Amino acid sequence: MSGRVRRASERALARIESAFNAAFGNECNPVYHSGALTIYFFWIVLVSGIYVFIFFETSIFGAYASVERLTHDQWYLGGVMRSLHRYASDAAVITLLVHLGREFVKGRYRGARWFSWFTGVPLLWMVFPLGITGYWLVWDRLAQYIAIATSELLDRLPLFTEPMARNFLLPESLSDRFFTLMAFLHLLGIPIFLVFGIWFHLLRVSGPRVNPPRRLALGSLGALLLLSLLLPAESQGPADLTRVPQALGLDWFYLAIYPLYDLTSADFLWALLAGGSLLLALVPWLPPVKREPAAVVDLANCNGCGRCYADCPFGAVTLQPRTDGRRHPLQAVVDPDLCTACGICAGACPSATPFRSVAELVSGIDMPRLTVHRLREATAAALHRASGPLRVVVYGCAHGADLSALARPGVVTQTLPCIGNLPPSFIDYVLRRAGADGVLLTGCRLGDCYFRLGNEWVVRRLAGTREPHLRSTVDRRRLKVVWAAPVDSGRLVAALNEFLQQLARLEPQRDPVPPPARVAGEAAR
Ligand code: HEM
Ligand code: SF4
Ligand code: SF4
Repeated sequence: MSGRVRRASERALARIESAFNAAFGNECNPVYHSGALTIYFFWIVLVSGIYVFIFFETSIFGAYASVERLTHDQWYLGGVMRSLHRYASDAAVITLLVHLGREFVKGRYRGARWFSWFTGVPLLWMVFPLGITGYWLVWDRLAQYIAIATSELLDRLPLFTEPMARNFLLPESLSDRFFTLMAFLHLLGIPIFLVFGIWFHLLRVSGPRVNPPRRLALGSLGALLLLSLLLPAESQGPADLTRVPQALGLDWFYLAIYPLYDLTSADFLWALLAGGSLLLALVPWLPPVKREPAAVVDLANCNGCGRCYADCPFGAVTLQPRTDGRRHPLQAVVDPDLCTACGICAGACPSATPFRSVAELVSGIDMPRLTVHRLREATAAALHRASGPLRVVVYGCAHGADLSALARPGVVTQTLPCIGNLPPSFIDYVLRRAGADGVLLTGCRLGDCYFRLGNEWVVRRLAGTREPHLRSTVDRRRLKVVWAAPVDSGRLVAALNEFLQQLARLEPQRDPVPPPARVAGEAAR
């Protein structure tokens, strides 16, 4: 995708997400939780499926009647469960496609993140066959259509010695053999692969969000129940091999390939599915990008406290036995293959405090591209150069609103890979030591951090509920936090103006602005 198309799609997506934020709040925005919602809908599918299975007759001659009995004689429970099973499956496809599209548009599959993308593709080959085999089991006219078309499609592959389609030529040729195979695939085979596939998909995501927030979960369940009661799932008349089914109602979420097959050919469809999947799987390398340098550990400054390990959203840090003989039992180790260069670990390290009286500030873990030392020097130097009645430092994230719109006398901007990269002690430092009147932090919208957890950790660090925390003595009136996506730059500018007015009303800071030598160099704490 060209840069311009990507930015346009990102903006369009951000606007859609804004609408959902307005309706549901950031915390319960279903778009933000599309991956977790997909898993949740599968849980509903599983529970309702178990109930349906209790009453289901696993034979080609009893299946249709057993589903009909369940739907009509027991509409208040069995019928609802059947409908829930169907609608939750459809909902899972919707959230799955939203999840896929969103990760794509936001570019969250590049570099070290290729793994989740790549392992997501086989999941598509499990989810859709799961739905298709489910429709097959009802053995109504829709199932008949699917069975015949599928067997024709499979006959194009060198899988079976006897053509599968022969089974559906005449009622006499029909056997339970296939039906049992489909039942096995639907009830056991594919679900087991799917569970394993989802586990594998999330292997490199640290603390993945696999459950939606409770309000969203209950709301979604309520909506599905309502739909099940208002529009119960029905069968489409018993299968009859002596007739070609006409005018079928199709579940487009799962069965769209069949009309496409009718319009084209088996060869075309297989080429499309195989080629499309291959292309999708290769997306992380199209075109190949140069990876940002990974975080680096400096053992002399690492005491093995484990904060970087706890905060890394991608499991790139491990704690391992000490190799340098120091008294601390553990040390941090970064796996560069897993590192996304978000810098959140550097923001977590207790040794990254700018108050340290060392000429070269080296922290236990740091980013080669923008070390905490360079950040401290750059901030201090820019503040020293800044003119204007008030001096404000804006720390922003490369994936949030563009900071260039904030340029004005007295305002110093510093873009970080993620706002979680900023050690909270920097706020204290620039206010008390570097002569700033205020600090504004900005990053991706809450619930939607480009690096998954950066803004959430910042909220907790500022609130004092996660280490390293911002000292309670820091004057909170001089700190403003604005969560803003690239489309929110107008809101960010307005927030800065409001902040400047607020700062102008405050009494001057007790500490005078330090002279340049003291700013650029070290100050004892
Ligand atoms: C059954 C289908 C799927 C389920 C249940 C699922 C679920 C999830 C969940 C729960 C997460 C973690 C979200 C978080 O905590 O940040 C995730 C991440 C992700 N998924 Fe999926 N997913 C599915 C299919 C796919 C597919 C088809 C793709 C793309 C081809 C995909 C691409 C990704 C990517 C790129 C991430 C992000 C990893 C990161 O932030 O680095 N997923 N998925
Ligand atoms: S946060 Fe810093 S000191 Fe603690 S384990 Fe990580 S690198 Fe070492
Ligand atoms: S920069 Fe740090 S927090 Fe981010 S992925 Fe790499 S090791 Fe993990």
